[in-house]
Amino acid sequence: MSYNNLPALEEWQQRIEIFLDNKLPKSNDAPEKLANALRYTVLGGGKRLRPLIVYATGTAMGASLETLDPLAGAIEIIHAYSLIHDDLPAMDNSHLRRKKATCHLAFDEATAILAGDTLQSMAFEWVSLSPSQHLGKMVTVLAHSSGFAGMAGGQGLDITADETITIDELNILQEKKTGALLSAALQLGALAAGKVHTLDSLHTLGLAMGLAFQIQDDILDIEADEIILGKPQGLDEKNHKLTYPGLIGLDNAKEKLQQLTHQIQDHLQTLQLEQSFLTQITQLIINRKY
Ligand code: IPE
Ligand code: IPE
Ligand code: MG
Ligand code: MG
Ligand code: MG
Repeated sequence: MSYNNLPALEEWQQRIEIFLDNKLPKSNDAPEKLANALRYTVLGGGKRLRPLIVYATGTAMGASLETLDPLAGAIEIIHAYSLIHDDLPAMDNSHLRRKKATCHLAFDEATAILAGDTLQSMAFEWVSLSPSQHLGKMVTVLAHSSGFAGMAGGQGLDITADETITIDELNILQEKKTGALLSAALQLGALAAGKVHTLDSLHTLGLAMGLAFQIQDDILDIEADEIILGKPQGLDEKNHKLTYPGLIGLDNAKEKLQQLTHQIQDHLQTLQLEQSFLTQITQLIINRKY
């Protein structure tokens, strides 16, 4: 996504790109195939919305960009790992990601599995170097949001859900698979700024943002132009995925998205963050075309 009309977001997007480029193994580091798979997947693509959330939250609460870099990088590479594994033949079996062949097709399945494994541990290594007095809590937040209680658990629900799923169960599934990492992005930003008392409210906000994010993702799977989307359009239907539009219809899903936008705005006001870039990021989440 181009953030040309939002210079701060554009700057942060470039900043995280440079950070990731510098921190990832170089393409001639051994094992080269794995190093290249990491660089191929992580660099030069992706909207970087999770790092932007870290920067927006952290700077609004008083943290420096330098202290936020490893946290923003960590959440982005956990996300990249989740995408590599999500695209595998055993999961969504997708051939296209960020307008390129998926990792397992550009390399091979074994390398894709290892690339995901590597990115997951690398994320914890980056966080572990933070000088923050809240380092322990940062690790807990990242582990909780990416593991059984969060993204991986949500993906577990995603692969076992059947048509008997209720709307409440679908909400939990989506909050876990997508909301948990957005919640972690908010919380890591706050922890870098030492604002521990905001964590519970930020978690609630993150789940609402995640639900909105995934509903828009599911709407795009139906409505988007595949060239712009950069990943296969119609894959959810092909894979018989249980999605919000699938369960309650496209119009009701769009209505739900509007309700969530108001809820998110209310949360931001309560947290006195409505003047921060989180307001613009929320608009990007719900209005994005890919
Ligand atoms: C896609 O996430 C996967 C979901 C959680 C729905 P993004 O839409 O943030 O993907 P990139 O990083 O911009 O490619
Ligand atoms: C997956 O959701 C979210 C993750 C945890 C990776 P989707 O399967 O809908 O994500 P896309 O549409 O492939 O990006
Ligand atoms: Mg999936
Ligand atoms: Mg998928
Ligand atoms: Mg999707």
